[in-house]
Amino acid sequence: MAGGAGTRLHPITLSQSKQLLPVYDKPMIYYPLATLMAAGIREYLIITTPRDQTAFRDLLGSGEKWGVSFEYAIQPEPNGIAQALIIAEPFLDGAPSALILGDNIFYGANLSDLLQSASARAAGATVFGYYVHDPERYGVVQFGPDGKVVDLLEKPPKPPSNYAVTGVYFYDERAPEITRTIKPSPRGELEITDLNRAYLRDGSLRVERLGRGTAWLDTGTHNSLLDAGVFVRIIEERQGLKVACVEEVAWRMGFIDAHQLKQLAAPLQKSGYGEYLLRIMRDDQQP
Ligand code: DAU
Repeated sequence: MAGGAGTRLHPITLSQSKQLLPVYDKPMIYYPLATLMAAGIREYLIITTPRDQTAFRDLLGSGEKWGVSFEYAIQPEPNGIAQALIIAEPFLDGAPSALILGDNIFYGANLSDLLQSASARAAGATVFGYYVHDPERYGVVQFGPDGKVVDLLEKPPKPPSNYAVTGVYFYDERAPEITRTIKPSPRGELEITDLNRAYLRDGSLRVERLGRGTAWLDTGTHNSLLDAGVFVRIIEERQGLKVACVEEVAWRMGFIDAHQLKQLAAPLQKSGYGEYLLRIMRDDQQP
């Protein structure tokens, strides 16, 4: 479990019904959820459009079956990712937070450790930089001559580096208050990059680089969505182990016990998914 995770409350933002659709064999939202669950995080606020909330509630429920808790909130208009921190303010009630985008998929060794360390950090904010060939599509890190981070730029036409800022963010308890001081960008959004820049300016932003052995995929375009599905299929077929199986993560993290996992598997047995859950309990040699 993440250091101090029991006392930390964590919003997750989404906005599109698309994230209920599958990436290969499970809903897209399972991927970011499994990422934070593997970091020991158990309390979530799911932020959706007004139209999509019922569908997310139907899929995820209260979280009790996975040993976590889900609350729900609405973002009436897509006024920017940083608005999630303002919407989440009553839920957070002065606690630090993690924010993850519903369309981001992370996969790789040591990722949980990295996220757990970020979650355990008491002050400031932590974001993750990832080397990509098309940084202009993302928030981008600008490094000074000494390698220190000097700025973050949102979708710059001429990116100053290949390091994109990924869609998982850790903030101390000041994030909602700082977000309220941010002005909307020319595209009319409260930019998450502006919140991160505010932390950078006060010297409390940490930018961790994710190594090239980590996969970070977003599913924002038709091609990237299809690519993500193929990626997951290849890994799962090669290993016979599932990527982002939330029931498995809940069991491995000790959020639920073997009896509860069996109960989750029972109605799914015919689909192969349930069969998988029973198999992982029998085999104690898996990595
Ligand atoms: O994927 C990482 C990138 O995400 C970062 O590098 C960028 O700095 C950040 O601005 C964001 O860029 P995108 O262009 O990918 O953001 P997009 O508008 O596609 O939204 C990402 C997710 O957040 C998507 O699931 C929709 C959701 N969202 C977005 C906005 C603007 C909301 O829930 N509410 C919003 O107001």
